[in-house]
Amino acid sequence: MKTRSLRGRDFLAETDFTREEIETILDAAEDLKRERARGVLHDQILRSKTLFMIFYNQSLRTRNSFEAGMTQLGGHAHYLDPDKIYTPAMEGREVAYSTERVSDVARVLDRMGDAIAIRCYGDPVDWEYGGAHAMLKEFARWSDIPVLNMEDDVYHPFQGLADVLTVKEKFGGFKGVKFTMSWAYSPSIHKPRAVPQSAILYATMMGMQVTLAHPKGMELDPAILAQCEQYAATAGGSFKISNDFNAAMEGAHVVYPKAWCATPIFQPPVGEHDTKKTQAIFDQHKDWICTTDTMARADKNAIYLHCLPCDRGYEVANDVIDKTSGPGWTSAAFDEAENRLHVQKAVMSLVM
Ligand code: CP
Repeated sequence: MKTRSLRGRDFLAETDFTREEIETILDAAEDLKRERARGVLHDQILRSKTLFMIFYNQSLRTRNSFEAGMTQLGGHAHYLDPDKIYTPAMEGREVAYSTERVSDVARVLDRMGDAIAIRCYGDPVDWEYGGAHAMLKEFARWSDIPVLNMEDDVYHPFQGLADVLTVKEKFGGFKGVKFTMSWAYSPSIHKPRAVPQSAILYATMMGMQVTLAHPKGMELDPAILAQCEQYAATAGGSFKISNDFNAAMEGAHVVYPKAWCATPIFQPPVGEHDTKKTQAIFDQHKDWICTTDTMARADKNAIYLHCLPCDRGYEVANDVIDKTSGPGWTSAAFDEAENRLHVQKAVMSLVM
């Protein structure tokens, strides 16, 4: 178990951590979850400490799990709306008296608090893939306190932690678990890739048998796919890609269908910044929805996961997401949402 190696670290991407370190975080999350269930208070762990949270995008789960988590740990979380501060901007993208250079924001906040957490993807970086992750790294370069990624345009590392903790709880471990991450239709074409990318990174890191399913045109970042291949080889799991929704669900223990954007939405050179092309790809695949028929193809004890928010009636049928108890397959989407709280408390306890 690695514990001291985590102190003071940024949490920007799961790929910055070894499997042993990730397992330490999961162990800590399980401890904190069990203790909270028994009424044990954690309010001395980060007593009087401050987390600054900058949200460029909307949030229900992330904001409230970090904020509640800091309260439970004895500290406080500040919600910062970028439009109500001087919007942190990269060098060269500043606008007089409206923005403030990231290096300046980072160095001011690190004099006052104990960690900085940021969510940024999509419109705030004009769909320049990797632009938001680069901004988080710039914060980390200038900040002497840990910087936490609350979802950028490449990674959603806390969501992925909650996903694997949920799998561990439901199946007692990872060996032999068939994990299917699939695209699903949504009327919105503006959904980032971070959730599926983090999900498959963690699942392959943990040695699961991982299938990524999506229609053509919904490919994920080639560098992430290459990392998944490497993790699968190292951990003794597997990683394959399918363009067939139903086939990908056969025998799956974990069924995780959700929408993400198509490649043309991104700025060149990754995409073409073409929303019409993106919409056309979406419109061809309205049948990629998780129904009870989908779940019937999976293992009889399968779990349904979704990071939420979900588009009911499009990504998933109501009678799938709402079937939260047995017999047979069940929806674990709300257990997964709760686990955001426990994994984030674990990471904050270990790094702050
Ligand atoms: N899953 C997730 O990150 O939810 P929010 O967008 O509500 O934070």
